[in-house]
Amino acid sequence: MTGTNDRPIGMFDSGFGGLTVARAVIDVLPKESLVYIGDTGRYPYGPRPASEVREFALEIAWSLVNDHNAKAVVVACNTASAAAFNELADVLPVPVISVVEPGARALAVATTVRRVGVIGTIGTISSGAYQRALADVDASLNLTATACPGFVEFVERGQTHGDEVVLLAERLLAPVINAGIDALLLGCTHYPYLSRVISEVMGAGVTLVSSADETAFALAEMLRTEGLLSDSEKEGSRAFLSSGDVEWFADFGRRLLGPELSSASQWQRSSGNQA
Ligand code: DGL
Repeated sequence: MTGTNDRPIGMFDSGFGGLTVARAVIDVLPKESLVYIGDTGRYPYGPRPASEVREFALEIAWSLVNDHNAKAVVVACNTASAAAFNELADVLPVPVISVVEPGARALAVATTVRRVGVIGTIGTISSGAYQRALADVDASLNLTATACPGFVEFVERGQTHGDEVVLLAERLLAPVINAGIDALLLGCTHYPYLSRVISEVMGAGVTLVSSADETAFALAEMLRTEGLLSDSEKEGSRAFLSSGDVEWFADFGRRLLGPELSSASQWQRSSGNQA
């Protein structure tokens, strides 16, 4: 049995998107071990009803705690955060952190003209989670929030550039372009993989903000406050699990995350949602 501090951080997303957050966590907290579950067998979460996403999020978070002994859970998916964060924080016996609040804080400091944008899945944008989180940070900011259905599917297929993605981006980003913003939050953890296209379409005057680094810093602070930072001298271990095609997860995931994703295994649906 490992001591409390050497237990892994648990992290999950509907698929590859949360690897943007995993990359930042590995860089900021190299001594921490990490268990990542990508629910590629059931992505995308964005168009699903919030009740269904909540069910998935609870199932995976409990699996991280019960089956993988996670000492903290990072919800590396905006859609799952929007649907289930409060419930996860209430029921899980370990601290939980979401990407939403760190993203909202980073967005607020990135603007000069005080007009900002958030893009995300239909589930995230329609939940109002960012509208609330940003109002908590600075209610005087003018926010334009718009959903980008289709972006996640392109990333999951490994298609992160080319005419088709550019055409879709031009259509979907029109509301944030027209709003005259100078900072745009990528409110879906898949979107940083499309940042070249998004940035080209938005133009040079718009700063793209990703919540990955901010979330890693917030996680470090939370672990410190809770006395949960690893006391190991060595690099942490990393495990990657997928509910879908494991070979594709390992191949494409390694290209996105880097060499730490040396293999992936099948996520075994778990022992039930309980302590
Ligand atoms: N990465 C997830 C997010 O941040 C994508 C959700 C989806 O699967 O549609 O919202």
